[in-house]
Amino acid sequence: MSNLLQELEQLYQDASAALDGCQTLEETEAWHAAYLGRKGAVTAIVRGVGQLPREERPAFGKRANEIKVTLEAALRGRQERVALAEMEQALSAEGIDVTLPGRPQQIGKLHPTTVALREIVDIFTQMGFEVFDAREVETDELNFELLNFPPGHPAREMQDSFYTDTEDVILRTHTSPGQIHAMRKYAPEPIRVILPGKCYRNEDVTARSEMMFYQVEGLVVGRNVTFSDLKGVLLNYANQMYGEGRKIRFRKSYFPFTEPSVEVDVDCILCGGEGCRVCKYTGWLEILGAGMVHPVVLRNGGYDPAEFSGFAFGMGIERQAMNKYSIDDIRYFYENDARFLERVG
Ligand code: PHE
Repeated sequence: MSNLLQELEQLYQDASAALDGCQTLEETEAWHAAYLGRKGAVTAIVRGVGQLPREERPAFGKRANEIKVTLEAALRGRQERVALAEMEQALSAEGIDVTLPGRPQQIGKLHPTTVALREIVDIFTQMGFEVFDAREVETDELNFELLNFPPGHPAREMQDSFYTDTEDVILRTHTSPGQIHAMRKYAPEPIRVILPGKCYRNEDVTARSEMMFYQVEGLVVGRNVTFSDLKGVLLNYANQMYGEGRKIRFRKSYFPFTEPSVEVDVDCILCGGEGCRVCKYTGWLEILGAGMVHPVVLRNGGYDPAEFSGFAFGMGIERQAMNKYSIDDIRYFYENDARFLERVG
């Protein structure tokens, strides 16, 4: 064996041993410079190939190449092990236990009112209703007069209003003024709309009434709309919202803008009508107010009551959620207590 080849083999042994001794990435980099770099020892010997007799050069070149490739691979392996060891050391020095489970993230949910509203909108859109948006700030005229509440009429006291600095401008007390907006937009075409939105009443806050709450109004106007249509639509609503096979009942009532007027109940979803704490032992849960659109209101909306008829209904959205999820106090909805918000919906 030529001296040069012997030198190369010796260098290979030394380099391998030196690499095994490298404990940090810095050391491996220094090792690379010392052996394989431009000025490294292996590189220097390989350059000496010119001193060899011509016939020995191919074997030397082949072996030199093998050694370079092997050392480069060994370097990469060493660097990986050193990097891992350095990371483990850093982690244990910082006291981080990477095997600990992560902290659970709080995931947002829809508000119970939104959940109920979306269900209501789905049910009525399936029946061919469209959503109609109306404003929350109204005039006394739209909120009351055109709905057949004359000034000073005692029925106004059913709905105490919030007034604004501008005379006759109030926060709407119900979604019913939207009936007039819809009729004036569509007359003399037939109408089938629901109108969801916020309402405001200047009342004491109790378990059953909030100052701000949501309603969904429904309005159908056409040439042959009857009370039976109203019954069919509401029965379908009750079955979809509260479960198949639900019964509804109508109690006579009074609203200035409908005639006749009714209040509608569904049989208690907890006891099925037997009587329990949730239905206050009546067997029924109130769901909404409704009736046939009063001729005066039809006329105010631009329809001739001799040719057109209609029905309307109005429901509290929180009330629907209270019935469905057995919530006994409306105040929970807007107190923002996460325990309540997480439970429902
Ligand atoms: N606007 C009435 C209320 O707020 C509900 C209602 C709407 C009744 C439509 C009849 C028809 O109580």
